[in-house]
Amino acid sequence: FRVPAPYNEPMRAYAPGSAERAALSGEIERLRKERVDAPCVIGGQEVRTGEVFTARSPHDHTCELADVHAARQEEVEQAIDAAREAKAEWSRWSFAARAAVFLKAADLLSGPWRPTINGATILHQGKSVHQAEIEAVAEFADFLRFNVAFAQQLYEQQPYSPEGVWNRMEYRPLEGFVLAITPFNFTAIAGNLPTAPALMGNTVVWKPSEKQAYAAHFTMEMLRAAGLPDGVINLVHGDGALATDVATAHPELGGVHFTGSIDALRSIWKKVGAGIDHFSSFPRVVGESGGKDFVVAHPTADVPALVVALGRGAFEYQGQKCSAASRAYIPRSLWPEVRDGLADLARQAKASMGDVSDLSTFMGAVIDRAAFEKHRDAIEGMRADGAEIIAGGGTDETDGWFVDPTVIVTTDPQADTMQRELFGPILTVYVYDDPDWDDTLALVDRTSQYALTGAVFSQDRAAGYHALDQLRDAAGNIYLNDKPTGSVVGQQPFGGARMSGTNDKAGSLLNITRWTSARAIKENF
Ligand code: ALA
Repeated sequence: FRVPAPYNEPMRAYAPGSAERAALSGEIERLRKERVDAPCVIGGQEVRTGEVFTARSPHDHTCELADVHAARQEEVEQAIDAAREAKAEWSRWSFAARAAVFLKAADLLSGPWRPTINGATILHQGKSVHQAEIEAVAEFADFLRFNVAFAQQLYEQQPYSPEGVWNRMEYRPLEGFVLAITPFNFTAIAGNLPTAPALMGNTVVWKPSEKQAYAAHFTMEMLRAAGLPDGVINLVHGDGALATDVATAHPELGGVHFTGSIDALRSIWKKVGAGIDHFSSFPRVVGESGGKDFVVAHPTADVPALVVALGRGAFEYQGQKCSAASRAYIPRSLWPEVRDGLADLARQAKASMGDVSDLSTFMGAVIDRAAFEKHRDAIEGMRADGAEIIAGGGTDETDGWFVDPTVIVTTDPQADTMQRELFGPILTVYVYDDPDWDDTLALVDRTSQYALTGAVFSQDRAAGYHALDQLRDAAGNIYLNDKPTGSVVGQQPFGGARMSGTNDKAGSLLNITRWTSARAIKENF
């Protein structure tokens, strides 16, 4: 058989006055009123531990969405046991039967569950309607559908058989269970990290970020509605370090699928390393750990396109994307025009900052108090060091955790906000002298401790291609004349190396391959 041809889920515009906008607004209203009691889900059972934390809206201190039950050590252990128990049966399901669960989930997401997953992402993660639609719905559905097609491609990879022999490859799941630790900023990534291994016949313990627990709760309900059998994915809320400690203490840990901070990935890796003598296999660690993503403009760059890319890349979703444009290198000849354009865009973005559950809002708040304080201190630190702040720079915590879209100019390419991943709406610019294009490319490469995304703007093709070559190790996803955010599943497989992770390209055949342990069979006739 052939699985259905995958396609990118068309996005909805939610135009003022449209029925889809009214439906989404109605769902947001309903969600705001109904305070959810969100359990862990272990072996198909809802488990309420009584140790609850509150899911809140970042843009509205008064909006409390859910009481989320955090797993303790015993619940994480139960989740591991449930995953181990479900494995025997799930791994024997045919590929078609497993695929059908996730294809149906994609249809539920693009259909009846769309307003709920979208609304939950808007309310808890603080996304504008467009930012929620592009990922919590479209990208998540794309992951579900494309992964099935990638799995089929993998299964079709078969060895040569000479006469008298039939050689074949059987793509089995990993030994043991998989731990998925997922980030707050993308409902799609939070959904992809447990479902990709599960599609390949693995069973999973899923620990979402506390800051994404609300949409994770609905995602789990949706997967169950799609027919996901009990125990295949076990949802445990709460502390990631605890879940990692318990999982790495277990001899049957087979793999970790992670997206989050560099410190968390290092910590996971150390714990896996520390447990290496007691595991029954060598666990696979697949991780994406952020970026400090650059935009470098050649003197021939198209300035209006560059300004839009910088503004969207830096400020959409308040800069809380691992792919966000956070450092820019602009030639002196273009700087006056770029500067005016950026200041103007930042002003417009600030004017539309507010409560994102009002669907006309472009920018919301940053995720929580810790993020707010980090951004405020980083801006003040740069100001104290003499950097010029040409737009934004202010913060307001009266109603929510609001940080102005901010543009900082520095003469020090190693300055704090040129180097540190902040995950906020802060763009730092370094202006270079036009003849120094080559030196600037070398500088960008030298200062790329991370290597996730980057963008080159040039209307001179030779200069653009030269940059692609010089920056070949500085980004796993590089864009020529486009912003560094917004990869699309099936179009730009996503991930980077250096300190950005294992570069196992989410939404690709490469990633799917990591969740299999192949058996080669030779049969003599
Ligand atoms: N894949 C997401 C992007 O490219 C993170 O923006």
